[in-house]
Amino acid sequence: MRKCLAIVLAAGEGKRMRSSRPKVLHQVAGRSMLAHVLDAVAQAGADELAVVVGPGREDVAAEALKASAHAKVFVQAERLGTAHAVLAAREAFAKGFDDVLVLFADTPLVRPETFRDLRAKLAEGAGVAVLGFEPENPFGYGRLLTDATGALTAIREHKDASAEELKVRSCNAGLMALDGGKTLDWLSRVGNDNAQKEFYLPDVVEIARADGASCALVIAPAGEVLGVNDRVQLAQAEAELQNRLRRAAMENGATLVAPETVFFSYDTKLGADVLVEPHVVFGPGVTVADHVVIHAFSHLEGATLAEQATIGPYARLRPGANLAREAKVGNFVEIKKAEIGEGAKVNHLTYIGDATIGPRANIGAGVITCNYDGFLKYRTEIGADAFVGSNCSLVAPVRIGDGALVGSGSVVTRDVAGDALAVARGQQVEKPGWAAAFRAKMRALKSSKASD
Ligand code: UD1
Ligand code: CA
Repeated sequence: MRKCLAIVLAAGEGKRMRSSRPKVLHQVAGRSMLAHVLDAVAQAGADELAVVVGPGREDVAAEALKASAHAKVFVQAERLGTAHAVLAAREAFAKGFDDVLVLFADTPLVRPETFRDLRAKLAEGAGVAVLGFEPENPFGYGRLLTDATGALTAIREHKDASAEELKVRSCNAGLMALDGGKTLDWLSRVGNDNAQKEFYLPDVVEIARADGASCALVIAPAGEVLGVNDRVQLAQAEAELQNRLRRAAMENGATLVAPETVFFSYDTKLGADVLVEPHVVFGPGVTVADHVVIHAFSHLEGATLAEQATIGPYARLRPGANLAREAKVGNFVEIKKAEIGEGAKVNHLTYIGDATIGPRANIGAGVITCNYDGFLKYRTEIGADAFVGSNCSLVAPVRIGDGALVGSGSVVTRDVAGDALAVARGQQVEKPGWAAAFRAKMRALKSSKASD
């Protein structure tokens, strides 16, 4: 087993985002770019994670530790280039590593497999393994220079390249794997005699070759190594990742009727034979079991749906919404922090928050759990087989017993015993002939006014 240190560079300023938030904390599919990178490299078997941040970037450091509790944060005091940034994490090398992976926190879509491919090149004997790609437009990227045998000899930054070198279409994605025993020595020999007066990480290629080490190349699809510098590229990264998530969901056996209209979170879990109709949005933390149906225009986050549950169209499941088997949540229904029992139905225009609904209970149209008094939240408990008529307000804390029936239009402020009927509304009053007499009186009044 080769020991691996991963160094994530995140000290860039990200000015082109025009944001008060640091670039690498912007999200793709519901998670920061930094967290995506840390997760992918952990999956590729990195034993230690070092994150290099700019001075005063406690927020970036905090996100790194949130994504990976054992990450170590290093501060690059001055932004003097990518090689200089790696050296800011010098102390992380102390334990000795076979592989050093260098990655960029603003390049969030690189798959764990690709990191493993780079490490495999080191295991096969290369001193450096560079990740390359062929962009549609190579402007701005470092060019991969090769010899007659196709071996990588150097990487030339755009600003330093000759007219001839600028014709090269293969570019440096920026990420690379390096022989852990040699990295610090090679990096200490990188100079800054170049157009940007920066210490360039890609210069290790020439230095390693001068030491007799070979430099290998791994080529990735352009979409995978997309770097995010502005909000247009952020949207491109989002689109790329959404397509990947849609494809994975379908490969796992979910039917997406119109995949291009369904938006996933990085962690959405869909079972087999799930049907997702058009225009459904998944926020973070959703788990959907087999044979669930999600009708069009539903929005879910932090929700769990057991087998054969059905929601929507136009359902909104908020964090803590847990639907048991065959539960049914219909149109314009909002559920928050609530357990919906097996086979229970909440079909129309309802808000259920901070509640437990027993198996097979039926919640009528327009029922509201009044869970908040402006200061605190309270729970509503509805028993098995209970029936709550339409347009009831259940003023929490309140408990409706098993098999109880609540008449529609009730404002329920006290507990209802099991199997009881509760009606809490004004009594109906009926006066025979009253309407006809009223109309006759008013018609007479109106015609007397007209003749004035
Ligand atoms: C880099 C590569 C270039 C490659 C391109 C791919 C270098 C010198 N060039 O160029 O060959 O084609 O990526 O997108 O590496 N960073 C620091 N501290 C620094 C400088 C950079 O942490 O002092 C971080 C940035 O936050 C960023 C990454 O390193 O995550 C890359 O830096 P950037 O300045 O964007 O490099 P490019 O000019 O894009
Ligand atoms: Ca860049």
